[in-house]
Amino acid sequence: MLSIRKSGAALGAEITNVDLSRETSHELFNAITEALYEHEVIFFRDQNLTPEQHIAISRRFGELELHVRADCCKPGYPEIFVVSNVVENGKPIGARDAGVIWHSDLSYMREPSWGSVFYAKEVPVDSNGVATGDTMFASTTAAYAALPAETKAKLQGLKSLNSYAKGYARVRKGGQKLPPLTEEQKSKVQDVAHPVVRTHPATGRQCLFVNQGYTTKIIGMDEAESDALLGYLIAHISDQRFVYRHSWRAGDLLIWDNCSTQHCAINDYDLPQRRLMERTTLRGSVPY
Ligand code: OGA
Ligand code: MN
Repeated sequence: MLSIRKSGAALGAEITNVDLSRETSHELFNAITEALYEHEVIFFRDQNLTPEQHIAISRRFGELELHVRADCCKPGYPEIFVVSNVVENGKPIGARDAGVIWHSDLSYMREPSWGSVFYAKEVPVDSNGVATGDTMFASTTAAYAALPAETKAKLQGLKSLNSYAKGYARVRKGGQKLPPLTEEQKSKVQDVAHPVVRTHPATGRQCLFVNQGYTTKIIGMDEAESDALLGYLIAHISDQRFVYRHSWRAGDLLIWDNCSTQHCAINDYDLPQRRLMERTTLRGSVPY
């Protein structure tokens, strides 16, 4: 059966002795799901997966989403969202700088994703051969638990507004902006209200659910009060006490829980160093 090596941080664990290209048993996938609930981010090293296998493994955890940016999906595989700085024939093959601010995936949707299954295919290195392009993960359960009691009480019942357009509109590396969203894209991603503190549907744990990338305001507060509270919570979530930083190796398959964690990519590499990652996205449910 699987063995689990904790990262030593507030979240994160490596699962060893599993070859995901061969495993199919329900018992194993149940154990992996339990490990994901407990450790919030789990990863397997040295996996060798076809896109079909990546999709099939992902489906063991639930239904998959198709991303609103169809231009970033792997040709022939609408379930696979490509995160990469690689340009082929003058065209980026995926989202170039996805996730460089703290966020959880699809938190701007009415039913945010419950988890993402991320497969590292090419990892950049610096001039000393050390991997770059790490990803940081923060535990929103640990961050919530560490709040003072009066702050927890104040957050009860509050809702925030979340907007895909906010994250999309940000200025990219090199001062670039993306082309405006089309009307069709906009109609798929209208602003949505979510509880500031949500209950994890599987574990019952309380999770902070506002993020730097997509949350625009706390509903019912004036702008100054809302900005102050959001600023405080966003800084609190990314405090080092609650963070695990993953240094990628090609062949890593890493799964994160989008309710109990947030993540932030570190964009500290450039071509000719290539970074190529492929993500599937698990469909979630309405937060409560
Ligand atoms: C994502 C994302 C981070 C990274 O794919 O959802 O935020 O490190 N990626 O590429
Ligand atoms: Mn992301």
